Amino acid sequence: MTSDIIIAPSILSADFAKLGEEVRAIDAAGCDWIHVDVMDGHFVPNISIGADVVAALRPHSSKVFDVHLMIAPCDPYIEAFAKAGSDIITVHAEAGPHLDRSLQLIRSLGKKAGVSITPATPESAIDYVLDKVDLVLVMTVNPGFGGQAFIPAQLEKIRSIRRMIGARPIYLEVDGGINAETVGHVVEAGANAIVAGSSVFKGGNYAENIAAIRRYAERARSAAA
Ligand code: DX5
Ligand code: ZN
Repeated sequence: MTSDIIIAPSILSADFAKLGEEVRAIDAAGCDWIHVDVMDGHFVPNISIGADVVAALRPHSSKVFDVHLMIAPCDPYIEAFAKAGSDIITVHAEAGPHLDRSLQLIRSLGKKAGVSITPATPESAIDYVLDKVDLVLVMTVNPGFGGQAFIPAQLEKIRSIRRMIGARPIYLEVDGGINAETVGHVVEAGANAIVAGSSVFKGGNYAENIAAIRRYAERARSAAA
């Protein structure tokens, strides 16, 4: 298990009219990764951005681009997201019948592979792919929009996946409704990579928002240790 808490602001909550500037701002504000939400209006009921936008943003930060594909099918687009400069590419277990193949494809392109599950999907969906992933993303809201309320029932799932991961070097990431109040619960349950959209971008003081989330996360981590 990696020891540090990763904070990954989701640029879904950024000002889309100045995305490059926003990416530079969260980088300067001390984020660890940049979380990029890709939505197709089919797998999720919203459309966001594609691989060309990822490529356009790439020169604006050297931090890890953590690209969350909420698209189905995903396989036809994985290579484009790899070429665009993604570092981690995460696909949904629910997005197609051949999850194992999608994960192999991501790794064959030299990228870190992630698998995500939505709130209604049990952790058993990833039992047989744990040897092919670098990251597991537990959605703590139904994917599609920023600013939704955290779903507490996911805490039990996070705990269970933490046990499944054991000593493997796999990040356990959470995404949706994470803020200074909820982050302690997910970290206590075993999460170590934290996506936060609205709670980072709200009010405009990104450094302070990131620091607050990190502080509460680290406090929970030391309490759980
Ligand atoms: C939701 C996206 C999230 C979203 C999180 O479908 O995957 O990354 O931007 O936003 P908040 O933190 O506002 O819930
Ligand atoms: Zn996301």
